[in-house]
Amino acid sequence: MTQGMVTFDGAPPPGTINLGIGQPSADLLPVDILQQASAAFFARAEPFELNYGVIAGDARFLDSLAGFLTSGYGAIATPEGLFVTGGNSQALDLVSTVFAKPGDTVFVEEPSYFLAFQIFSDHKLNVVGIPMTHDGPDIDALQRELGKTTPAFFYTIPSYHNPTGWSSSAARRQEIVALAQEHGFLVVADEPYQLLYYYAEPPAACGTMIASEVVLSLGSFSKILAPGMRLGWIQTSDVLRKQILANGFLNSGGSINHISSHIVRHAIDSGLLEAHIDKLRAALRGRVEAMDEALHTHFRGLAEWTRPDGGYFFWLRFDESVDSAALRRKAPKLETGFQAGDVFSSAGQFGNYVRLCFAHYNEDDIRDGIARMRPLFD
Ligand SMILES: Cc1ncc(COP(=O)(O)O)c(C=O)c1O
Repeated sequence: MTQGMVTFDGAPPPGTINLGIGQPSADLLPVDILQQASAAFFARAEPFELNYGVIAGDARFLDSLAGFLTSGYGAIATPEGLFVTGGNSQALDLVSTVFAKPGDTVFVEEPSYFLAFQIFSDHKLNVVGIPMTHDGPDIDALQRELGKTTPAFFYTIPSYHNPTGWSSSAARRQEIVALAQEHGFLVVADEPYQLLYYYAEPPAACGTMIASEVVLSLGSFSKILAPGMRLGWIQTSDVLRKQILANGFLNSGGSINHISSHIVRHAIDSGLLEAHIDKLRAALRGRVEAMDEALHTHFRGLAEWTRPDGGYFFWLRFDESVDSAALRRKAPKLETGFQAGDVFSSAGQFGNYVRLCFAHYNEDDIRDGIARMRPLFD
């Protein structure tokens, strides 16, 4: 790496272990696979493949993606149910454009992925939080809110939720979809961690529930290949897909990430992506366990948490008196860092919570980072 280069926004100074960073570590990013897949593509690329492409996505890529999802999700996916995106952030922005209008209400989980809040606010959407339980969003609370208003959509992170690491049960996923059908709102399921399980598989992705005609499942290659590819997909029904395809930005720009999709097609078809995901599962399982152990060593009795079975995050609850945002500001002095809980709330909650990510550092650094954090909580 070129010395002194800024590698990403918010990169910590050398020597600091910031467990707040929610990105994969460099050693999990497979330059070799993308080299091979790109070489395979460009060796035979035809000029039309460098053009705008088909808005929904190149047919061959959608075929490969459908095969990948059929095996990954354990249910048949078809190319007609898929649409290429620039990753889940872009998909959220698109969904907010197509399926909501300024002033509409959207329901989110409480807590939820904080950067989604900013996207909804860009679209002038009102956000109402539905409390999370270990089995997924609290269904009674959801029903109470539905008694007051019908949202344009419910934004949910069903598997290995960000920030809690919890997964909605199969029954909870079905209940939410049934309520959406009954009340006439959409379920926007953000599923970037679905395939990152380290023990048993999570309940079936919401992408397998598109026949309900109320589900938009957002998938991404960011966490299973490389965030920089800026490639993902929406899996949904024909009716909802047609509504997406009528969008002006797409009509002007064509396929959102045509060339990346060709490269990733080769990574899928060669089997390299599948093998890489297996490696990720093994590496991240080691890191989950290292973090869990280090937490038991340094934070037993001080915080409560459950070890996640997949994804990227631990969610720690401290005593009510702890102000994690204030402690976070002191963390750089100890060359450590974490994400304070309050940013994940749409309602000013979780000031005594902390999110830790185990994907950005190796096991030794994770142990070190947790040990360095400890004095902040004395
Ligand atoms: C829940 C959730 N949604 C979306 C994203 C961003 O996804 P993408 O890189 O595909 O834009 C992340 C990444 O941290 C995430 O955790």
